[in-house]
Amino acid sequence: MSAFSSGELLAADPDWWRDAVVYQVYPRAFTDSTGSGVGDLEGVRSRIPYLRDLGVDALWLSPFYPSRLVDGGYDVDDYRDVDPSLGSLATFDAIVHDAHEAGLRVIVDIVPNHSSNRHVWFRQALASVSRSPARARYIFRRGRGKGALLPPNDWQSLFGGSAWQAAGDGDWYLHLFAVEQPDFNWSNREVRDEFLTTLRFWADRGVDGFRVDVAHGLAKDLSPRASVAAVSMGPVGAVDPEAPVRLSDGTDPLFDRDEVHEIFAEWRQLFDSYTPPRSAVAEAWVAPHRRALYARPSELGQAFEFALLEAPWSAEAFEAAILENLALSASVGSSSTWVLSNHDVVRHSSRYGLPEGADLPAWLMSHGVSPAEDLALGLRRARAATMLTLALPGSSYLYQGEELGLPEVADLPVEVLQDPIWERTGGLRKGRDGSRVPLPWTSEGPSFGFGSAAAVLPQPPWFGALSVEAQAGVDGSTLTMYREALALRRSMQRDATVEVRVAAEALYITRSDGWMSVTNFGLVPTAVPTGRVRLVSSGVSAVIEPSTTVWLEVGGVGEHQLG
Ligand code: NOJ
Repeated sequence: MSAFSSGELLAADPDWWRDAVVYQVYPRAFTDSTGSGVGDLEGVRSRIPYLRDLGVDALWLSPFYPSRLVDGGYDVDDYRDVDPSLGSLATFDAIVHDAHEAGLRVIVDIVPNHSSNRHVWFRQALASVSRSPARARYIFRRGRGKGALLPPNDWQSLFGGSAWQAAGDGDWYLHLFAVEQPDFNWSNREVRDEFLTTLRFWADRGVDGFRVDVAHGLAKDLSPRASVAAVSMGPVGAVDPEAPVRLSDGTDPLFDRDEVHEIFAEWRQLFDSYTPPRSAVAEAWVAPHRRALYARPSELGQAFEFALLEAPWSAEAFEAAILENLALSASVGSSSTWVLSNHDVVRHSSRYGLPEGADLPAWLMSHGVSPAEDLALGLRRARAATMLTLALPGSSYLYQGEELGLPEVADLPVEVLQDPIWERTGGLRKGRDGSRVPLPWTSEGPSFGFGSAAAVLPQPPWFGALSVEAQAGVDGSTLTMYREALALRRSMQRDATVEVRVAAEALYITRSDGWMSVTNFGLVPTAVPTGRVRLVSSGVSAVIEPSTTVWLEVGGVGEHQLG
């Protein structure tokens, strides 16, 4: 794994994304530089030294575009600007500049499935008549029944309720997410060209890569025969556990259709016209063998592997997910990706502290009371899982705050909830805000160093004890563990192959570059392998404790402290 120190070096490695550690920044919850209670881009910029010292390779910015924030910024008004409350294009350029100077790459989030209903094209569509070119950029259909008062079919939104909204004149428009997020019509050439222009806009500003939102949703079969009941396939927080599983074989009318790959092949041509080529990663909630198609080098290059978001704490479950991911990404010439947390799911330190199979939406509805969360166990396992994934070949996508071991804030009062899931489900689900609470940087202060005012999404009093200030430089803290692990990871080789095996509830990853990682999923200590393998975690003595990962090196020299 290469260490970059300057902008020149950044340009020198076109394959950087293959083993990058990417840190997801959710801008509104990262750092507030203005005292508004909401994070902004200047705040992100001020933390670039922190990200450099943490040792990540890239930052991925969740949407910062103009938005009314109906869906946390995934409702975009204008794809080629910055929301004035977050900064300006000049601030964005400064982030790219400073990040590159610090040896970090920048990935932006592209939201091509839907715009917001305030996008100029959607306003034009509403102001136009049925079957007009303006409406052809979105998905408008005549309603059913007398006066077209019924929606065209019974498709459901992933956020709850009908996926159709009446336009007022007998036409209805499709929104797979919130009402304020109308779906684009990707069979319209104008839509395709518009997104190519947007990708060029950001690539020309120096952006190194793109995270593609709902990549599996763009191509749709809207013929009348496709009017089957749609169910959820999307972020864990949004999925209805009662919903039947969709077929992921190209036959579903709304998701993962074969035609979607034409779109990404065209995007790849654009990415490859840059030096170095721009990278991309698909968010595609599809069956693993179908996910690999999005990750082909002729398309996006990578796709998020989400199996570990749903895997129980078991060596076999992790082994199965890892082996499948490694095999599928190798089969298409991609590199693997590893994700344990993001802004759509319950944070992994909470997931692992709950009984296996816990109903997460119900747990959130109980404000985190039932079932009870074992915070210490959850954190221990979360740290072990992170170390495990960081020892694997491929890229790791980290979510802001996981380096502090933050658990989910499960007891947010419903009055402060911002996620549309809360309203769209009529208060049956709280949604994803508990993973989006602003980060604690200091142990004290009105918002624990997030900004000079209280955060709009309130932080709990216990956040201060988990702050960066409380953990920086402290032996054994989660932050120290991340810093040490990321520094050590730089001496692992990008092209290493791995052997993965389970014995006595421990998962062994043996890398061809001489590193080994052992994770003890069991309840009793495991012996450190003997022979030429030497422990590099001086924090662990003769045994590997339960819920712990250690990294070992074959015949290495020098001691490393992993915390
Ligand atoms: C996936 C994003 O990660 C999520 O936050 C968003 O709500 C949906 N896509 C819709 O854009």
